[in-house]
Amino acid sequence: MVEWNRHRIERPYRAGEGGKANHAGLSATLLRLIREEPLHDRTILDVGCGSGRLTLTLAKEVGRIIGIDRANEVIEQARQHAAALRLDHVTFHCLDAEVIDYRDLGPISLVVANLCMSDEILRRAAAVLSPGDAIAFAAFHVDQWKESGRISQYAYGEGHVETALSEAGFEPVYLGVEREVLSFAAPDEGLTYLEGSGLSAKWKADGRRQGFVTYLQGSGREFTVRARVIIKARRR
Ligand SMILES: C[S@@+](CC[C@H](N)C(=O)[O-])C[C@H]1O[C@@H](n2cnc3c(N)ncnc32)[C@H](O)[C@@H]1O
Repeated sequence: MVEWNRHRIERPYRAGEGGKANHAGLSATLLRLIREEPLHDRTILDVGCGSGRLTLTLAKEVGRIIGIDRANEVIEQARQHAAALRLDHVTFHCLDAEVIDYRDLGPISLVVANLCMSDEILRRAAAVLSPGDAIAFAAFHVDQWKESGRISQYAYGEGHVETALSEAGFEPVYLGVEREVLSFAAPDEGLTYLEGSGLSAKWKADGRRQGFVTYLQGSGREFTVRARVIIKARRR
């Protein structure tokens, strides 16, 4: 039985700190879990690679790496980054990770993902991996921005991810939750933080800003700015 590792950073908001929200940044734990695997002679698949942040971080350490994303514009950006770095063992494809058969990409011995995970992706990853091969990923935890009153449909709670791993045919070897929670002395500070985060316009449009305002107008004084599950598991 693998125990959950829980890391929680709590800190007061510092007036004037501003700055863009960094909810999507790569976790040092995720990188460590990936780098514990043999990489140099393997082919790695990065699911939901975006413009290649994780793919390109690993590129120099791997035999081959394939990034897939369903958004053509980010795949174009990723290709440009790889070309600028003269990385010809890195390939990017515009594909829907919940539809394709990963076996069509050729042999894959490690699947990684940063903030693109679903039960369907787990099932498809399991189908391409051999027993003992690993999947390592970070996914939003259900607590991410919970104070807005909305939970992402792609977010996982601890029980859900354990069940999904088991049903897909994976045995967990690392289970972690990382959280960073800001506290505010007064509601105004919460709104000031949101304005500086770069999230405000999108949140205004989709109703999350109003949810957060309502929370602050009550007695809410915290904001979960980063919450994710960090997972490594092996194919049974
Ligand atoms: C939060 S971004 C993370 C991007 C990248 N992994 C990174 O760390 O910068 C999530 C990405 O997953 C992609 N995505 C979401 N669902 C997908 C699917 N079914 N198939 C392929 N890509 C998907 C989105 O287009 C987006 O680029």
